[in-house]
Amino acid sequence: MTPSDLPVPSVFAPVSTPAFLIRDLSWLMLAVSAAIFAVVAYLLVHALVRFRARRGEDDREPPQVYGSNSIEVAWIVVPLLIVVVLFLATARTVFEIERAAAAGGATLRVTVVGHQWWWEFRYPDLGIVTANELHIPLSDPAERRLTVLRLEAVDVIHSFWIPQLNGKTDVIPNHPNTMWVEPLRAGAYYGQCAEYCGTQHANMQIRVFVHPKAEFDRWVAAQQARASESPAVAAGRAVFLGTACVSCHRVRGTAADGTFGPDLTHLMSRTTIGAGVARNTEENLRRWIRDPAQLKPGALMPAMNLTDDQIAAVVGYLLTLK
Ligand code: CUA
Repeated sequence: MTPSDLPVPSVFAPVSTPAFLIRDLSWLMLAVSAAIFAVVAYLLVHALVRFRARRGEDDREPPQVYGSNSIEVAWIVVPLLIVVVLFLATARTVFEIERAAAAGGATLRVTVVGHQWWWEFRYPDLGIVTANELHIPLSDPAERRLTVLRLEAVDVIHSFWIPQLNGKTDVIPNHPNTMWVEPLRAGAYYGQCAEYCGTQHANMQIRVFVHPKAEFDRWVAAQQARASESPAVAAGRAVFLGTACVSCHRVRGTAADGTFGPDLTHLMSRTTIGAGVARNTEENLRRWIRDPAQLKPGALMPAMNLTDDQIAAVVGYLLTLK
């Protein structure tokens, strides 16, 4: 599935404090690079045209000139100055981003865990665990709300990148990194794992939903609620709890307590499955459970070899996990 329903994830369309600062720096870098490109391209084309072989000229080499202190000094000093300017501009942006975070505001803490090939989002202060779709509050200049992300990996190196919210940060096993975002416009934003991490690296998508405060509080309350226990789906729940599903997935309040795969307590609150590989519909859940590799080759979830009746029952149960 393409994320065509979301805005183009461009660093030139920022919606979050660090991303605005990075956008400005990107324009400076682009302008300097474009100017260098123009000068080099001009000199190259000029030399090709001006000194091309002309009819009637003999084949003798032109006069050879060796050594020119002034030219050599120029081509060392000018690039050095350019590099120093770019370094200072980058350093200033790094410090500005740190200063903006230190300026404070209410802070939501989220732990991001990179897995092959999906993202786990834990809200330690709220008791929420979800996957692949990050929900955070909108900030308001009058009442700032920052989200600080602690980035961890359980297997290999991943990289967390939501271009409109902040620059990319590597997610490294046994070395937590942090980043922060302060979204100033509500909406949904697209991100991607940005470090090759295996077969399904490309389908390690991130969706970020930025909510006004009241709407965010409603999302939190819904996520904190216990899982549905509708008696109508007791058979499906029994199949789910009776298979190996429970050793990888958690449904809070049941015996399913695995952590290797995504928490399913409120599975149906998510718009996609398989870290964005398909929309979260009844049909796709059926296809996914029958054989995840059909939708996402290489996915670490095995086909459980359930019968059609068992699959229908399990899907019926999952559909109640709102
Ligand atoms: Cu995770 Cu690429």
